[in-house]
Amino acid sequence: MTPAPISRRRALALGGLGTAVVVAGATGWIASATASTGTGAFDPSGTGAELLQPPLLDSRDGRLAVELTAAAGVRLAGRDTSALGFNGGSPGPTLRVRPGDELAVLLTNRLVQPTNLHTHGLRVSPQANSDNPFVSIEPGASFDYLYRIPADHPAGTHWYHPHHHGMVADQLFGGLVGGLIVDRGPDLPITTDRLMLVTDITLDGAGAVVPANSTDRAMGREGRLLLVNGQHQPTLSAAPGTAERWRIVNACTSRVLALRLEGQQLVQIAQDGSFLSRPTRRDTLVLAPGNRADVVVQPTGTGRFALLADPYDRGSMMGSSTGDTGPTTLATLITSGPLRASTPLPAVLPAETLPTTPISRTRQTDFNMGMGGMGGGMAMSIDGRTFDPSRDDQIVAFGSTEEWTVTNTSPLAHPFHIHVWPFTVTAAGDGRATTGTPQDVVLIPPRGWVRLRIPFTTFAGRSVYHCHILDHEDAGMMATVVVT
Ligand code: C2O
Ligand code: CU
Ligand code: CU
Repeated sequence: MTPAPISRRRALALGGLGTAVVVAGATGWIASATASTGTGAFDPSGTGAELLQPPLLDSRDGRLAVELTAAAGVRLAGRDTSALGFNGGSPGPTLRVRPGDELAVLLTNRLVQPTNLHTHGLRVSPQANSDNPFVSIEPGASFDYLYRIPADHPAGTHWYHPHHHGMVADQLFGGLVGGLIVDRGPDLPITTDRLMLVTDITLDGAGAVVPANSTDRAMGREGRLLLVNGQHQPTLSAAPGTAERWRIVNACTSRVLALRLEGQQLVQIAQDGSFLSRPTRRDTLVLAPGNRADVVVQPTGTGRFALLADPYDRGSMMGSSTGDTGPTTLATLITSGPLRASTPLPAVLPAETLPTTPISRTRQTDFNMGMGGMGGGMAMSIDGRTFDPSRDDQIVAFGSTEEWTVTNTSPLAHPFHIHVWPFTVTAAGDGRATTGTPQDVVLIPPRGWVRLRIPFTTFAGRSVYHCHILDHEDAGMMATVVVT
């Protein structure tokens, strides 16, 4: 295998961006916890190496019991850094379970601030020691989570990350993410099945995480370095005629990924862990933070094909804008060898249909931003109120299906996310095509709206919905939902 050379232009661009990072707001907790010189640009290593998979922890006989330790000090982009990880890695181990399984996680907090765990996309109870976002695990403490995965849980690609309000952005940006796969779904003609967990981070020359400043927090911070499974611009080797399944997770704190594969077709088969009704070719695949897409790539010729993240404009505010200036290479597909006979994908996939119960109630909720936040910063709110974990914002009758119109009265795009209860998008202000496929994150454009159908038919309990730009969530763009 030949390592992909980093182009001189790209290297210069990265160096230039790195040195331009301004560390405002001084001592972020991560910086203060490390002996960092805070100078110079981070210099990634191992660029172009073959993509690795995080360690896989697989359930057996209906159970997976794991210990996860959240701590600083992981290898990232081929170097020792003071970034954060689970069990010494970012991403942490991939947890793979089956419908009907029990997943037990003993989470130990070796950070300098509280944390907890969220199983993003899993349809499990939000109560007690299941997927409960109100749990707080103090530094040095441990907590026993137990998730009972329903026997009828669809197979799909999900992920886990901390969800302690006020600290989520720092902890995800720091590297605390991991894959969570529900096996195994229909038999597809797949040669290689890969998890591709995309994160972004900004590191200084000493490998310390650069803290976000107030503009970063208002806009939603985007890291200077884009990584796949913690690697910088890795290579995926494949033979022509084979079929690669890529389980892509946008685990970035705020960045929207607009993905494009040069010279080959990107065929989407699932979104947010649910199969589409048919394989769908995507010239550009847009994933908001939190979204997942399973795509199949059946390379046709030999060569090098870059998987690119194009600039994506999330809107602008007070002279600050979002989005890179040019495309960034995430990874490179390298194909070589004789053409193998390929098996086409089935024309129809086993798409899930959510219950068709009539709508029993409609509601409206609005994501907004304004001046007058704490310390003179931006106030991030839902329906004019910042998050209060003790307040019940939406009270929903268990077993009912609701129609929610989610509006955005701000100049930035916000990805709406709700825990536990996935929805289908039935209409949107921008007239986008609706798929009928369940999902759990949907991007609402600046001054836009989306209409959702949400069956609250699986679990009762109290959970949250929020903006998945995690800086916004931490600043208060989150609300509670009580299903009772
Ligand atoms: Cu991935 Cu409430 O989050
Ligand atoms: Cu979630
Ligand atoms: Cu937002």
